[in-house]
Amino acid sequence: MNKATVTEIRKQFEKALEEVRDTAALEALKHGYLGRKGIIAGLFAGIREVPPESRKETGELLNSLKTDLSAAIDARSMQFAVPRKQKEITDFSMPGYAMHHGSRHPLTQAVDDMLNIFQHLGFDIAYGPEVETDWYNFESLNFPPDHPARDMQDTFYTEGGGVLRTHTSPVQTRYMSTHKPPVRIVAPGRVFRNEAISARSYCLFHQIEGLYIDEGITFADLKGTIELFCRLYYGKDVRIKFRGSYFPFTEPSAEIDVSCFLCGGKGCPVCKQSGWLEIMGCGMVDPNVLKAVNYDSERYSGYAFGLGIERMLMMRLGINDIRILFENDVEFLKQF
Ligand code: PHE
Repeated sequence: MNKATVTEIRKQFEKALEEVRDTAALEALKHGYLGRKGIIAGLFAGIREVPPESRKETGELLNSLKTDLSAAIDARSMQFAVPRKQKEITDFSMPGYAMHHGSRHPLTQAVDDMLNIFQHLGFDIAYGPEVETDWYNFESLNFPPDHPARDMQDTFYTEGGGVLRTHTSPVQTRYMSTHKPPVRIVAPGRVFRNEAISARSYCLFHQIEGLYIDEGITFADLKGTIELFCRLYYGKDVRIKFRGSYFPFTEPSAEIDVSCFLCGGKGCPVCKQSGWLEIMGCGMVDPNVLKAVNYDSERYSGYAFGLGIERMLMMRLGINDIRILFENDVEFLKQF
């Protein structure tokens, strides 16, 4: 290979370039010369055969050939870039194109609907971190040191000794540590549990926590608020039932069932023929929790509740597999 070869190739290229009439032909030319297996790549490969003393010179020659060729191609392509002006035809009788629009995820919609109701009932919205300390997630909530929920099986721990919150209840003590009573908040958010993934449980889900602390708050206030919430969310005919239960941070504690809105309580597959569906845990805040945040537990009392969004939504939509709420299958999401 020598100067003459390079000059010859340059000439051939220029001639070919002149004959190019459209973008496709230009692309083909570019490919033939500058492509990975193109003429120029071939020349570069041939440098091995050039005597060592003239390799540098040949290299420079090839480099400038390459630069010139691509510049010429770019310049030519500009001439095709502007399409020739077409005669504009507008047919106003044509049907329009359907617009694809996104929507909020059904879980987000459910949380928004519920928060909206609670805001009307006088609750503020509070948030807490998803990575919690052991103190907020357990200790401050009156979990005895050997409580089974602390077990590695249920709780995800982070390397730094943090805890992925297993419920939204730590927002209670977080909020109380920085606010004086009275407090009336709802706290939505994601919670995490190290459970086997199945149709009924997932390693993360959503809760809304509620907390109301003031002087003279009683179980009657809890009942009234929850009943009203359920009527507003499920419709006025819904009936609710309190069932005694246990949580370390409430005393007394209860779980709340609503009459199945699908069958109205007659019994169907969604409520497993019982006529009732469990939607939340609740109770009067344990004095130990108030003490943990330096509230005067003689003077103040209050209630807390925690509802599971996925459960409520699954029942509402008649879905029997929780995973569908996390898979982001567009066919499913399109319906909302
Ligand atoms: N934190 C409880 C749970 O996740 C629910 C709950 C909240 C119960 C507040 C009572 C009061 O199961």
